[in-house]
Amino acid sequence: MASISTLLLICLFISIIPGYANTDFINLKCNANSVGQFGQQSLLVCVIHTTQEVSNPEIRVVTWWKVGVKKPLVLFYEGKTTSTTGYKFAEPSWNNKNMNVSLLIANTEVANDGDYTCNVITDSGSSNSKTHLQVTAKYSPPIITTPKRIHQGADGFVICNSEGGYPKGQLRWFDEFNTDWTKSSEMVANKTKNGLFHLSSTLTLKSGSIFKYTCVVYNASGEKVNEANFDPDPNSGSSTGDGHEEPVHYKLESKVVAPVVVIGSLIVGLLITLLLLRWRSRKARRPSTAPLMGDHTEIPRCDEEGKA
Ligand SMILES: *[C@@H]1O[C@H](CO)[C@@H](O)[C@H](O)[C@H]1NC(C)=O
Ligand SMILES: *[C@@H]1O[C@H](CO)[C@@H](O)[C@H](O)[C@H]1NC(C)=O
Ligand SMILES: *[C@@H]1O[C@H](CO)[C@@H](O)[C@H](O)[C@H]1NC(C)=O
Repeated sequence: MASISTLLLICLFISIIPGYANTDFINLKCNANSVGQFGQQSLLVCVIHTTQEVSNPEIRVVTWWKVGVKKPLVLFYEGKTTSTTGYKFAEPSWNNKNMNVSLLIANTEVANDGDYTCNVITDSGSSNSKTHLQVTAKYSPPIITTPKRIHQGADGFVICNSEGGYPKGQLRWFDEFNTDWTKSSEMVANKTKNGLFHLSSTLTLKSGSIFKYTCVVYNASGEKVNEANFDPDPNSGSSTGDGHEEPVHYKLESKVVAPVVVIGSLIVGLLITLLLLRWRSRKARRPSTAPLMGDHTEIPRCDEEGKA
């Protein structure tokens, strides 16, 4: 079997000589972009198109490369197919008369994301083409946790986690009025061993801030994938995570509001009553000033006289 470098030279040679490489009889057409799901099969479609002049073409060489990988993934040469484990011709029993030279990746990994080139040499000319594979993996539904008790007057925080996605996505926070609070949060995207992302976002809660939050995970194209709600009020039933202590704080805070209002209105009422009483007593005094004044001056006199 000829060495790969010899083959590379042939490929280089045929692509350098314009008259040979750009034969109009043979045209390899690949789908510009393909999407592959992580953990599933991926198909890179490439088909040789021939003009009418070409009858019953025969393929001599096919090479499938991934850009940046030294070894060809699939190589058909001198009537034999050799391939790297996990890669093969997509056509079940492919032979050199089959113009569909599509590549099948058995188990798509993050490393499969990237550009591929396919070169073909036939008895009627040669051609090569490029194709791109975009690997995607869906993010898990986010989970909100509240690791620390939020004390009154102190800032607290809630954390939202989503993992197993690719490419890098985003976590955003919204309140019940759909106001975006993402600016008050900080997100970290860590790559796990298999290349997938673990997104973690920490939202800072100012004391007295809005109580209900939603954490939304978006994929790399900015599409909403999933969401989780953080509602510290256990009575509403939609609380996620382990924030058992927060409700106490928030319930306290919301209960505090009622007494303040009650006491406030009591004070206002009392003031009004006092003012009314004063106004009434003044009004009562004015029409008969003399007797009242007399009464008023007599009483202390009596007391003084009594004491004296
Ligand atoms: C090429 O082969 C693949 C796998 O069998 C198939 O899915 C695809 O539709 C074929 N394409 C054409 C244009 O025949
Ligand atoms: C992400 O990686 C950093 C640095 O390696 C580490 O400190 C942090 O704990 C990781 N975060 C998560 C959520 O795994
Ligand atoms: C994002 O999600 C949308 C809708 O589910 C999907 O069509 C798109 O391919 C996804 N993009 C990525 C990069 O995962």
